[in-house]
Amino acid sequence: MLKLILLAMVFVAVVHADTHTCLLRKGKKLRTFGNTKERVKIPCKYHAISATRCGNYKVTVTPGNAIEADKNKRYIVKTMYVGVERISDGMKFEGRSDLHIAQKFLDGVKPAPFNKKDGALNITDVFDFGPTTEDDKVTLAAKDGSFNITFGLYKAGSTWHRKSGFQFDCYSADFEPTDYPDQLCGNGTKHEAATFKADNGFQDRRQATTFYNVFMNQGLAQTDSDCKTTADTMAKKCDGFEYEAAQKCWKIVGRKRFHKCVTRNLEKPESAMRHCVEYVCSNYTDPNSCHALSDEMDGCSNLVGVSEKVRDHCAPDLTIRF
Ligand SMILES: *[C@@H]1O[C@H](CO)[C@@H](O)[C@H](O)[C@H]1NC(C)=O
Ligand SMILES: *[C@@H]1O[C@H](CO)[C@@H](O)[C@H](O)[C@H]1NC(C)=O
Ligand SMILES: *[C@@H]1O[C@H](CO)[C@@H](O)[C@H](O)[C@H]1NC(C)=O
Ligand SMILES: *[C@@H]1O[C@H](CO)[C@@H](O)[C@H](O)[C@H]1NC(C)=O
Repeated sequence: MLKLILLAMVFVAVVHADTHTCLLRKGKKLRTFGNTKERVKIPCKYHAISATRCGNYKVTVTPGNAIEADKNKRYIVKTMYVGVERISDGMKFEGRSDLHIAQKFLDGVKPAPFNKKDGALNITDVFDFGPTTEDDKVTLAAKDGSFNITFGLYKAGSTWHRKSGFQFDCYSADFEPTDYPDQLCGNGTKHEAATFKADNGFQDRRQATTFYNVFMNQGLAQTDSDCKTTADTMAKKCDGFEYEAAQKCWKIVGRKRFHKCVTRNLEKPESAMRHCVEYVCSNYTDPNSCHALSDEMDGCSNLVGVSEKVRDHCAPDLTIRF
């Protein structure tokens, strides 16, 4: 009997360790709490974890992604926002880290790898910070042992892009993850993006669904101006074309051949993404986003459902590569 109980305990422990982890690798490969793999190729902020309860804390982890500027155009985590709320007294902390801030901590110049943005909770009371055995990552370990967050940020010209990401582990039995799509890590149910897609009758890739959910998330304040305009357009100026915009436009930032081409035109992929969303959301009638997109996408591969409309409506000499 004792053996059985022990076995059951080991089993429960293993299951917990498995389902209470969400992580991001290489700036784009997300593994959710339900152990489902998703790609997040969006050069903006997104709620990986949003007010998920773990022990006495509610935790929020919001990576800010970017496409690195050098020739390889990889996805990287440029900045990392972490929020914690201590449930027992409602005290909060919100902070942001990036490579420079983390490096100052690793060099002993700063007591914590964060710049505080808001809140009265003193994070050095909540967390122990440490370099991991790999010296290019930083770990935040809750002092009461309830959770750890490890993150690696991008450093140009090194191998850091491979480490670019985070891992959140909750070791407490009090684990109440927020549902998908409020957080992309989901609530432990498998295939959350595929289920959302099916429930809403969406076609196309799951990456279109992810794009839709990131920009439709009202609880998320985008800071980059192109990201903010994309989100505002989707939320307020789209009138029924929201999914169509996601479906048509995600490839500009989700497929290398598009964002590399936009960069070759000396334009920004984030800006092309925004103009594409504005154009589709206007039911292909807005001349300003049409013109801007024609400059950004000239000579690029056919963006199905958009490139030809741009050429027909506002840029008769647009070159489209078929
Ligand atoms: C936070 O707490 C630490 C140690 O508990 C203390 O040294 C530090 O001054 C505190 N910081 C603030 C801003 O109160
Ligand atoms: C959490 O991180 C700390 C600091 O790096 C480490 O000592 C500890 O072992 C980690 N906890 C678990 C359960 O892995
Ligand atoms: C988890 O989220 C899914 C949607 O992704 C929802 O259908 C389900 O009811 C949720 N489960 C719990 C236990 O909240
Ligand atoms: C969108 O434009 C098409 C073609 O001009 C038109 O047939 C359709 O009614 C428009 N839809 C809306 C919702 O405005």
